[in-house]
Amino acid sequence: MKSVRFIMQNAALASLPKHIDHFSKFSPSPLSMKQFIDFGSINACEKTSFVFLRQELPVRLSNIMKEINLLPDKLLTTPSVQMVQRWYIQSLMEILEFLDKNPDDQQILGDFADALVTIRNRHNDVVPTMAQGVMEYKEVFPQDVVTNQNIQYFLDRFYMSRISIRMLINQHTLVFNGTTNPAHPTTIGSIEPHCQVGEVVQDAFHSAKMLCDQYYLRSPDLLLQEMNHKKTSHPISIVYVPSHLYHMLFELFKNAMRATIETHENKNNLPPIKALVSLGGEDMSIKVSDVGGGVPFRKIENLFSYMYSTAPTPQIGEHTRTPLAGFGYGLPISRLYAKYFQGDLQLYSMEGYGTDAVIYLKALSTDSVERLPVYNKTALKNYKICQEADDWCVPSKEPLDLRKYRVA
Ligand SMILES: Nc1ncnc2c1ncn2[C@@H]1O[C@H](COP(=O)(O)OP(=O)(O)OP(=O)(O)O)[C@@H](O)[C@H]1O
Ligand SMILES: [Mg+2]
Repeated sequence: MKSVRFIMQNAALASLPKHIDHFSKFSPSPLSMKQFIDFGSINACEKTSFVFLRQELPVRLSNIMKEINLLPDKLLTTPSVQMVQRWYIQSLMEILEFLDKNPDDQQILGDFADALVTIRNRHNDVVPTMAQGVMEYKEVFPQDVVTNQNIQYFLDRFYMSRISIRMLINQHTLVFNGTTNPAHPTTIGSIEPHCQVGEVVQDAFHSAKMLCDQYYLRSPDLLLQEMNHKKTSHPISIVYVPSHLYHMLFELFKNAMRATIETHENKNNLPPIKALVSLGGEDMSIKVSDVGGGVPFRKIENLFSYMYSTAPTPQIGEHTRTPLAGFGYGLPISRLYAKYFQGDLQLYSMEGYGTDAVIYLKALSTDSVERLPVYNKTALKNYKICQEADDWCVPSKEPLDLRKYRVA
């Protein structure tokens, strides 16, 4: 029996490149927040969701698997990246098994939901494992601008694809598992149609504060203000995934706290961190402001790089590291969460004073549509850029010797 399974697995593995080629020719289908909600409430139908996902998940997986293969060889062959690649292959094979299964069979639907849970768990550690691969690569090979750009471009797309795949899996498994979350009875899967932004701000702040107290034995306070342009006295709420919002805010608060404490180490009182939530007709924005000394303007873009952190690099499984800073993934991943539903995250800093970090989200659920990478010629071209001469002069380090221009 075992040998039959082995032969079948090998056969499936052998035909996998063909499947990846096939599914990567389709573009992923972005869903809007409204579609997610409709799908999970009025139109809730496990069979439809099954038929959609057994096509859409292979499409999203294959699109990004094509891009993994475009990584520089030396990164692709690190043990960590190889492991991530094996996870993707295994998960794709498991979903493909459902392609010819009968959607009317309740047992099949149950098996599919179980398979999705297994896949979600398998991919839990993709981010730190990939980060480990990048670290291994960084330690051994000298970095050049083009490779760094490639890795940044790839990781933004790879992690965005991962966020979207987990969103689809979460929606299916949560909506069709037959239970409601007693703490959040109105949520539809992981979406809250009345997500009270101020409450998420407070929650994220308190979690960051606890970590900060543990590590630094002190922490700044929060001043929270809301500006609702329509109903001035109403707390601001939007249709959103609270866990995504929490993630972004938690990261911003950890950064703001670390900067505040390290800049005001010798002072008795810490200046508070301010959060301003504002709802307009198009945007719902949240500004987190600190007076933690700021960052030089030249470095701002670096802060979103997966290859940069000012904190000492932690090792996987290490428990002694500072809990407020780690791989340097806080900002880049938070920006992806914001961009996932067509928002953004920007940092405005004044060195010597402090930093404002602003999360921009769409106010309307009809505008919140998934932003997904697609593997096509343009993407391919982006991996093939080579370093060209700058079309702006590079100032010389040596002052120009004007004596040679002197007329005798
Ligand atoms: N509010 C801020 N004030 C000053 N510096 C900041 C601020 N926010 C971020 N930074 C700088 O940006 C760097 C990158 O931040 P990021 O959150 O991405 O990573 P990290 O905090 O180093 O690690 P982690 O992955 O745990 O978040 C920080 O190391 C810090 O130097
Ligand atoms: Mg951080």
